[in-house]
Parts: sequence; structure tokens; C-alpha cells
Amino acid sequence: MMITAAAALLLLQQAPADNTDWDAIFGVEEKVRDPETGELPVEPYVEDNANAGADPFESGKMAQQFGGREGIRRISDRLVELNYADPRVADIFIAHDRVRLERTLFEQFCYILGAGCDYTGRDMASSHASLGTTRADLNALVENLQQAMRESDVPFHAQNRFLAKLAPMSKDVVTR
Ligand code: HEM
Repeated sequence: MMITAAAALLLLQQAPADNTDWDAIFGVEEKVRDPETGELPVEPYVEDNANAGADPFESGKMAQQFGGREGIRRISDRLVELNYADPRVADIFIAHDRVRLERTLFEQFCYILGAGCDYTGRDMASSHASLGTTRADLNALVENLQQAMRESDVPFHAQNRFLAKLAPMSKDVVTR
């Protein structure tokens, strides 16, 4: 009896895989990166600079103090890099599209700092709604942004003016 059961098990294990499309049955959708941008698709939304969550500085002085578009790019990329490497928040970031985040975060910073970009990303409430972010997570992100700005020699008062612009967004990005 034991031998028969073992033989049946062996046969089952060796049975050729059938062609059942389990992804289709379970509704699993494979997302494909755009061959040009390298980004994953997101649900459709209306692009609008108002999605950036703050009005831009007007004079151009802030953009200059952040080193123009090149300096802003260095800071936003560095912020993403620090977040992905930070054990306090890395788990939240790792599950998401870094390529898109690098682009949209740069656009948002560039737009708000008055360096002449348009922001084409989603609004803060809908892009953070499902992340379950806490105030402690936000504090970690702010520390990382301060580090990125410090490393780029952004004057301290300009750092603080930028942080003051972002502060009201905490009500949209902190969800628990
Ligand atoms: C004032 C603070 C914050 C600002 C200005 C900000 C800015 C942004 C921007 C511009 C995007 C891209 C939206 C899009 O893809 O269309 C984004 C997405 C994201 N943010 Fe934030 N963020 C903030 C706080 C946080 C915090 C505290 C966390 C977690 C620690 C976080 C985690 C993420 C993640 C994981 C995404 C990607 C979401 C996705 O791909 O669906 N953010 N954020």
C-alpha cells in the first residue's frame, strides 16, 4: 500500500505541466515598462501643475540657490537614492517604480523652485493614498532631503524656505 501511494506521488510530480494560464484566472496583470522611458504604466489621470501641491517661487532666486536645473536634478536623484538605501523607509520605496519617481520628483522640485519645469505627475493625495505612510516615515524623508540639500551646498535659509513649501503636503502623504 505504501509503495503504491509513493509511486502515485512520483507519477504526479512527473506529470507534464499543462497550459493553464493561472495569471489570467487569478486576474494577475503583468505590467510592461515603456521601451522609451523605462517606466511602468499608471492608471490614467489628468496632468496639471496644480498636482505638484504648491505654487512655485516666482523670482528665480531659489532655483539659482539650488544650482539651477542641474543642481535640482542632483538633489532629487540623491533623495531617491537615500530613500532606497534607508532602512527606515526602503521597504516602502522598493515596491515602486524608481524610474518614474526620479522623473516626477525632479519635475515637482523644478516646478516649485521656479526653474521653469512643468509637473506631469499625480497629485500627492492619490499617489500616496495606498502607501500607509506615517509621520516617522515623513521625518526620515525630510532628514534625507536635508542631507541631499546640504551635500549640494544649498544655503540654509533656502533649504528652510523649500521645506516650508513642502510642509503643508504632510496632510496628504501621511495616511496613518
Ligand atoms: C512632502 C513630502 C513628499 C513629497 C513632496 C513627495 C513627492 C512625491 C512625488 C512627486 C511622487 C510621484 C507621483 C507620481 O508617480 O505621479 C511620489 C511618489 C511616491 N512617494 Fe512621495 N512624497 C512625499 C512624501 C513621501 C513619504 C513620506 C514617503 C514614504 C516614506 C513617500 C513615498 C513615495 C512612494 C513609494 C512613491 C511612489 C508611488 C507609486 O509609484 O505609486 N513619499 N512622491
